[in-house]
Amino acid sequence: MYLSSVEERMINGEFGVAKALALKVIVRVGESLGAQELVEVAHAHVSGISYLNIGDAGLEFVEDLATSGGSVEVFTSANPYMVMSDYLGIRHGDVVIDKQLRIIEALNKLGVKFYTCVPYNVRPPKLGEHLAWAESNAVLYSNSVLGALSNKEGGPLALLAAITGRTYKSGVHLPSNRKPKVKVLVNTVSVDSLGLGFLGLMIGELVGDRVPYISGLRFRDTYSLKSFLAALGTTSNTPMAVIGDITPGCDELIANASYEEVFSISRNDVRSYMKKFIADANGGRGLYLIGCPHLSFKELLSVLKALVKGINSTHAPSDIGDRELWITTYEGFINRDVEALLSRLLKYNVKVITGACAVVSRLDLLKVNYVVTDSPKACSYISRLCRVPVLILPARKLIKAYLIGKLSVDL
Ligand code: F3S
Repeated sequence: MYLSSVEERMINGEFGVAKALALKVIVRVGESLGAQELVEVAHAHVSGISYLNIGDAGLEFVEDLATSGGSVEVFTSANPYMVMSDYLGIRHGDVVIDKQLRIIEALNKLGVKFYTCVPYNVRPPKLGEHLAWAESNAVLYSNSVLGALSNKEGGPLALLAAITGRTYKSGVHLPSNRKPKVKVLVNTVSVDSLGLGFLGLMIGELVGDRVPYISGLRFRDTYSLKSFLAALGTTSNTPMAVIGDITPGCDELIANASYEEVFSISRNDVRSYMKKFIADANGGRGLYLIGCPHLSFKELLSVLKALVKGINSTHAPSDIGDRELWITTYEGFINRDVEALLSRLLKYNVKVITGACAVVSRLDLLKVNYVVTDSPKACSYISRLCRVPVLILPARKLIKAYLIGKLSVDL
């Protein structure tokens, strides 16, 4: 692989042991993938930082990097960690929480700044900027919506890219690999935002790791676009989708594209697919979840206002002891507006949780009996990983179900 003079000096240890080791790994991986050179990245985003996922080996890896004098070379954010606050009085044990805090401390020492799965909100990438991001929903958003360039990096490799400021130039860093390989015709323009999420899961299963060109999609707002791309990244490995009216340079990308396969999806296809996710909840302790992917400030305010409105317009719940509502987002939002709304909601077990993610927590150990979410991505992961039944409702209905405490009434 060709290395610039700075990269030669880095790999020879002139900038420290940590950078030298990190670059050696990146070069080795890049060579195995046929990359000819490295590319400088403007922003790295690390995934896989929940102690419950990476265990002691992951903790040691991050601590070793931090104690060997490593530090990030570029703006670096990381995915959310496990939820450390309690759920109806139960929380993960002290040992687990202590190890999670050590991971965060080591990452902070390396220079990581934010913990969120929407890094494009804390530092929006520029058009054409190269990134090394490891969170699937964010990678899809950066390539498909913002016109930045990022492969879906592995969590540790993204951290090494942060330390060196470089990754190998392959995959969708190369313009030729951004051309779509499959075409998906969506004939269901009036599908609602929940349906769009399921459509994302469906399309992901069809495309695998190939870049799709998707036509016929209309998004009412950024929330449904985020939900769609998060779902697409749940069932596929594709780093990018070319979407009409959304993807920068769409016309150029689809010009002369040759498709290996063409798929057509109707509203009925989406409806029958959604039936696979119907789950039964037999009551007990419920966790209602909004914020997968993490909410933006505007989305957070809108959810909090809807809750307050619901409490004012319906009967305020009298008995809320069997459920909590978690709204997940990133740090920096707890301003006066949010505090004022939250102060009215706290007694209803509503929590705004920053920097963390319910999916990478052990909900079964927190004795959650069922989950209700508006996120197809969370639905897919929680039912598989946390062994807890998951019901899915659009946010508006989820809020109503939470307040009245019933899932079976006509919502
Ligand atoms: Fe974010 Fe966790 Fe969902 S990382 S996308 S809230 S699974």
